[in-house]
Amino acid sequence: MVRFLFVTDLDNTLVGDDQALAELNNRLQRHRQEYGTKIVYATGRSPVLYRKLLEEKQLLSPDALVLSVGTEIYLDGSDTPDLSWQQLLSPGWNREQALSTAKQFRELVRQPESEQRPFKVSFFLAKDTAARVIPQLEAELGKFKLNVKIIYSSGIDLDIVPRSSDKGQAMQFLRQRWEFAAERTVVCGDSGNDIALFAVGNERGIIVGNALPELRQWHNENPAPYRYLAQKFYAGGIIEGLKYFGFLE
Ligand code: GLC
Ligand code: MG
Repeated sequence: MVRFLFVTDLDNTLVGDDQALAELNNRLQRHRQEYGTKIVYATGRSPVLYRKLLEEKQLLSPDALVLSVGTEIYLDGSDTPDLSWQQLLSPGWNREQALSTAKQFRELVRQPESEQRPFKVSFFLAKDTAARVIPQLEAELGKFKLNVKIIYSSGIDLDIVPRSSDKGQAMQFLRQRWEFAAERTVVCGDSGNDIALFAVGNERGIIVGNALPELRQWHNENPAPYRYLAQKFYAGGIIEGLKYFGFLE
């Protein structure tokens, strides 16, 4: 067995089946102790909603935490986001302009205040209007030549974030910092904001069996030998994928 970098989404990927989660936690904890494997959670949740999940579920403490769809990285249990990452996101990011542009669209409903972050503005957008509204919003944002991009997930969540920021780029930042090869890095997800994890390079990818159509469709259109679509759901699918890639026995 070798050490590897384990990066996983939380909602409906790591979390969803408590029994499978407990088994995976055990295995990962042992792997971390024996080989120095590193564990990273990459979620759309803000610090407030992440803490809420910690109260509800048994999670290992991660070696790094990627919150707010990749716009915040917390290392080694720190409470303050990594400054060098924030500095990479800042150039050309204009939060106020992104907000006022989005306000022109009555289909966009603002998410709770806790989810509005320094480098992320978030809305709800109904699935049936998304195909029409997103290109229009992109065109409006494009007029200001802003450093922004749109990430749409779970047929409802729309995030506007800096172009250089998403879960995939945050994962790369950590991978390079800790010097893990792409072949020794595993990323896991179930929905739209996880596509960035799978698309950024040739890290080993595990798509859990319960993944949403938005991710499945992308996977079907962009198949790769280093990506595995599990049969099992949630943490069960992760265990299945880790065995497939030879990271677990
Ligand atoms: C989480 C966040 C939300 C975001 C979504 C998708 O649910 O709380 O703000 O829109 O993830 O990234
Ligand atoms: Mg998810």
